[in-house]
Amino acid sequence: MNLDTYLKAAERAAKKAGLMIIQNIRSNREISFKGEVDLVTNFDRQSQEIIRDSLLGDFPDHDIIAEEGLKKEKGSDFKWIVDPIDGTTNYVHGFPVFCISIAVEKGGKTLVGLVFDPMRGELFAAKREGGASLNNKKIHVSCIEELDKSLLTTGFPYDIRESDMNNLDHFSNFAVRCQAIRRCGSAALDLCSVACGRADGFWELKLSPWDTAAGALIVKEAGGCVTDFHNKRFDPGKKQVLASNGKIHKQMLEVLKLGKI
Ligand code: IPD
Ligand code: CA
Ligand code: CA
Repeated sequence: MNLDTYLKAAERAAKKAGLMIIQNIRSNREISFKGEVDLVTNFDRQSQEIIRDSLLGDFPDHDIIAEEGLKKEKGSDFKWIVDPIDGTTNYVHGFPVFCISIAVEKGGKTLVGLVFDPMRGELFAAKREGGASLNNKKIHVSCIEELDKSLLTTGFPYDIRESDMNNLDHFSNFAVRCQAIRRCGSAALDLCSVACGRADGFWELKLSPWDTAAGALIVKEAGGCVTDFHNKRFDPGKKQVLASNGKIHKQMLEVLKLGKI
């Protein structure tokens, strides 16, 4: 099947969910805690339902996993990987940086990735070996060559208070070596920022497949580089992700070596 068919299905699902999310941005939310600082709202679950119904309506035999407890793995070759709201903490506070992330993989290979930012109406998409786009226009990573001149993004894991593998070491190491670091609150959008050249690099640890599957393909298809912290091939099952424009990748790996990896 043409990869555009999967991309179109992902777009339909993401746009339906995005509309619901935006319509409810000022509504009262039911917030529950998955951890001390790990939140989930009724709208994360509602978004997941909308996306599930839409995707399985199009592809009833496919498998699907999503962050809020959805797991249908019946041995299909195709598996959809969904984050119904990436950036829930931002959403809860009304901080307008969050998105929907949808990817489909076959035999462990991501075929298409789509990240939709409903606040800005920005749709990032990529097809395996078919390039990456933002609102249907081709995108490419930046051409910054020196870490010293780079803008980086990162995030912190939800066990930041309990674990010493909490990224604070890498954060302070990078802070004195790059131009600036931003903590935007959505790993999927962080990856898209690298893909379209708004940022030059991104690293994070303890992420899940729904955070990275779509965004990692978008970075690669935009000409960037995605590995783990040991420069090994990245796949969404890996917890560590280092994404860059390729040109500063080695320099970022050297800085990561200064901390706990
Ligand atoms: C989180 C965001 C955040 C990252 C966290 C993720 P969620 O996803 O992507 O930027 O730092 O590690 O878990 O919980 O909002 O879907
Ligand atoms: Ca997420
Ligand atoms: Ca989420």
